[in-house]
Amino acid sequence: MQKDISSFVSSCVDFIRGIEVKSKAEDLKYSIIVPPANYSPWLSDEIFLASYAALKNNTLVDIYRCFELWRLVEQCGNLDGDILEVGVWKGGTGCLMALKAKMIGSPARVYLADTFSGVVKAGEKDPGYRGGEHADTSVEIVMKAKESLGLDNVHFLVGMFPEDSAEPVKDARFSICHIDVDVYESASDVLDWVWPRIVPGGAVIFDDYGCVATGGVTRLVNERYSMPGGLTIHNLNGHAVMVKTA
Ligand SMILES: C[S@@+](CC[C@H](N)C(=O)[O-])C[C@H]1O[C@@H](n2cnc3c(N)ncnc32)[C@H](O)[C@@H]1O
Repeated sequence: MQKDISSFVSSCVDFIRGIEVKSKAEDLKYSIIVPPANYSPWLSDEIFLASYAALKNNTLVDIYRCFELWRLVEQCGNLDGDILEVGVWKGGTGCLMALKAKMIGSPARVYLADTFSGVVKAGEKDPGYRGGEHADTSVEIVMKAKESLGLDNVHFLVGMFPEDSAEPVKDARFSICHIDVDVYESASDVLDWVWPRIVPGGAVIFDDYGCVATGGVTRLVNERYSMPGGLTIHNLNGHAVMVKTA
């Protein structure tokens, strides 16, 4: 019986895997991805699971990418530097990173940057965005999440980043920058601003590398894949992780 079920599941997976997902950007190919791996370390991390459950309604990001952020905060915890997220929405991923930083006793400040009035700088390279999406949030919503978790390491940068809100952190250095802004030009401007401020060993994580709707960010990461002094890793959960090696 068990064998029958396994072979049934395996033929379903074979059928689904590779089905093409249509994109407006003809040169970027998308398909349903079903990796053969099963190891699921988030299932044995009870603190992560409880934290994710507490923040689930505040995030658009799935458990796989949330767990990678959680682990990267720990991995980079011995580096000097603060943590920056550009693209906060209701604060899910930002508060999750802040919580992990606090748990490991990191002195890092966690800066959460958002217009709090939706996506900006959408253009021709962005198949799924016109501008103004994700405006259904506010500083108060994120503040509430931050306070419910007792986070004292979170600081807000309100406005378009970097041009309107980066001034208070212009001299900071960062161990992690999570870029979750959905569109090409915003992601490009954030990367140009933050890369010289990332400490060696630190990482820039692009949330939007893998999705059809955010093809502009896929295009940007592909253009910068071989950044001097950087190593870019494509994770099948949809992240691209750019580690600063020098
Ligand atoms: C997909 S949402 C972020 C999701 C969030 N990380 C989560 O946990 O669900 C994208 C956000 O990026 C913000 N955004 C886009 N471009 C921006 C920019 N240049 N400066 C500040 N915020 C920006 C939008 O306002 C929006 O809230």
